Amino acid sequence: MRKKVIAGNWKMHKDIKETIELISGIKNGLTPNENREVIVCPPFTSLETAFALLKESNIGLGAQNMHFEDSGAFTGEISASMLKSVGCKYVILGHSERRNVFGEADEMINKKMLKALNSGLNPIFCVGETLEQRENGTTNSIIENQIRKGLDSISAQQLENTIIAYEPVWAIGTGKTATPDQAQEVHKFIRTLIADIYDEKTAGSLIIQYGGSVKPENSSELLNQPDIDGALVGGACLKPDLFLGIINSI
Ligand code: 13P
Repeated sequence: MRKKVIAGNWKMHKDIKETIELISGIKNGLTPNENREVIVCPPFTSLETAFALLKESNIGLGAQNMHFEDSGAFTGEISASMLKSVGCKYVILGHSERRNVFGEADEMINKKMLKALNSGLNPIFCVGETLEQRENGTTNSIIENQIRKGLDSISAQQLENTIIAYEPVWAIGTGKTATPDQAQEVHKFIRTLIADIYDEKTAGSLIIQYGGSVKPENSSELLNQPDIDGALVGGACLKPDLFLGIINSI
């Protein structure tokens, strides 16, 4: 059976003091449960502090982005080995804000995916359609294109260390969640596509998270869908009670 994986994408929020408060709040409220995994993805500046606080817990640490080169003259960038050196196990790649605000294309995301996996980091690979694309009826072809390009040259074995997050762009930070049926439909499509590109076994064990305005009030219905294996949470991961509310809805 697939575990449920709840990850918090803090985006550009929380300084060191706030990081300590948020992580302490999550740790204090978390009850043991072997059927789920919890991940936090603070900004780069908080990773080291977060790792120190998470050491005795079962909460995983992830970053929100990385560069595909090992080192060099890339002002403002962070490498996979740097992330590993501060205790990261995960890295979010291909988030729609990276795609749409910072112009990251599928080819670049694929290079990052390969670098992360070859460096021993587990990517949380994000895909999702815009409102216009959904209204045009092109959701599936957009998702298929992002997945085929993003996963180019990635082996079935490497995919075992990858989480896919389906995040419809129109649902991110808007309060407009996809209905459980809408989300399930795309998750099923993704799993079928993975079975087609790889095989049934790989598709069957792949964790596919939903992201986009997940909150305690809607998480249980979303997480009960057969192909929704977790959530990638933005706004609601910034307050311990809301993040814990989502985690405890499993
Ligand atoms: P919100 O939960 O704030 O909609 O953000 C979702 C997201 O982008 C997580 O990566």
